[in-house]
Amino acid sequence: KKRTKIKDILQLAEANVTVTVKGWVRTKRENKNVVFINLNDGSTINNLQIVGDPTKFDEATLKKITTGASLSVVGLLVASQGSGQKFELQADTIDVLGVADPEKFPLQPKKHSLEFLREIAHLRPRTNTFSAILRVRHSMIFAVHKFFHEKGFFNIHTPIITASDAEGAGEMFRVTTLDLDKLPKTEDGKVDFKEDFFEREANLTVSGQLEGELTALALSEIYTFGPTFRAENSNTTRHLAEFWMIEPEMAFYDLEDNMDLAEEMLKYLVTYALENCQEDLAFLEQRAKDEESTKKQEERSELSLLERLRFVADNEFVRLTYTEAIDILRNSNYNKKKKFQYLIDAWGADLQSEHERYLVEKHFKKPVILINYPKEIKSFYMKQNDDGKTVAAMDILFPGIGEIVGGSQREENYDKLTNRMKELDMDAESMWWFLDTRRFGTVPHSGFGLGFERLMLFVTGMSNIRDVIPFPRTPGNAEF
Ligand code: 4AD
Ligand code: MG
Repeated sequence: KKRTKIKDILQLAEANVTVTVKGWVRTKRENKNVVFINLNDGSTINNLQIVGDPTKFDEATLKKITTGASLSVVGLLVASQGSGQKFELQADTIDVLGVADPEKFPLQPKKHSLEFLREIAHLRPRTNTFSAILRVRHSMIFAVHKFFHEKGFFNIHTPIITASDAEGAGEMFRVTTLDLDKLPKTEDGKVDFKEDFFEREANLTVSGQLEGELTALALSEIYTFGPTFRAENSNTTRHLAEFWMIEPEMAFYDLEDNMDLAEEMLKYLVTYALENCQEDLAFLEQRAKDEESTKKQEERSELSLLERLRFVADNEFVRLTYTEAIDILRNSNYNKKKKFQYLIDAWGADLQSEHERYLVEKHFKKPVILINYPKEIKSFYMKQNDDGKTVAAMDILFPGIGEIVGGSQREENYDKLTNRMKELDMDAESMWWFLDTRRFGTVPHSGFGLGFERLMLFVTGMSNIRDVIPFPRTPGNAEF
């Protein structure tokens, strides 16, 4: 008989049907008269309780049913006597598909630390926490596409392998087929990539933005949602070497339009989670509460996970300029009492995540959009403001996260853009294709990037970015 998933079983209107379930044993309890098995198949956070008469099954089979073993069970679904569950399954036949030796299977029914689970990333989807996170992650991916599709945006696949450094930060992973022991050299001693597969230097992309701009200047409103790679050696709870980024790019949008879209999108995604991931979020909220209770009083969050999500969904974000933010930070008690690790002493300083979080969590107590940053601390492609000092950048800062979105209006003027590239010593010639958009039918346009795992941190209440992606890539970590 065809298998029914536990999620669908729990939604049935009536019991007294025969069903086949397949999944993994979470726990087993037994005595002479009855055996209880909690089975989970990943379709929902909820387990299905299997009840069996031990005399109906041979002893060898019962012995093999241990935490982690996989089963196929046929039985009659009946209304449950016990509290907390609607149905249970009276087992007629139990097939053990795969055993899990209790001496060796690392996931026993007890609390495992997140650090331990990171070491067994291949098995952690079998825990409640990670299966919940992965289901929420799926819902958020779906909601991203739904949001843009409903607005008439087109999804564009931008290349993973590229010759250009979109952010100009030089944090790229090289892609090569050359034999590292015998790298061909040019006359001036540099590696000669002409002999390489692409006949030039090639890297993993840090952002799909540049190609996004090319297509937005044809299809008007597009977005990319792909993997991006950064070889920055920052071992923090907010950085991955491989992360997923949502990058919309819109022709005829100025910075204001850009902010409006980003705010609308974030609210939509958070609302989608609240409406569609209720069981998993309830579980994650309890998990976050347990974690909070281990923290010092002053470090505890005032709001619970769901309250935080509702707060973002319902409240307008604060919008202010970098210059205004610097004044607030400079005059803050935190700065005066030297509580920041990096003190703010002058205009022009790059904001650290401690400053971003101060603005959001202590000062405004709301998400914040900061605009008009000094051009020196932002990328070459941003639109230069008339003051000659700032660019039309925007960063969105979230409680508990810091920067969740980075974007800008783009410099659409060919001369201004090439001059800026010259100032930064960039090779404008190799970016002729990008500059062509400014030569042929250029228009004002804008876009931004949402770090998908930063969004996942916010929505799930997890505190380490390694725990919201199935297989995190960080310095020293690429085994599986
Ligand atoms: O601010 P970033 O570097 O901006 C860009 O890449 C632009 N090209 C985006 C655009 O305008 N189309 O990155 C955008 C976002 C950040 O706000 C952050 O949420 C996330 O990407 N991000 C990271 N997430 C995880 N690990 C990292 N190492 C990240 N670096 C950036
Ligand atoms: Mg940024």
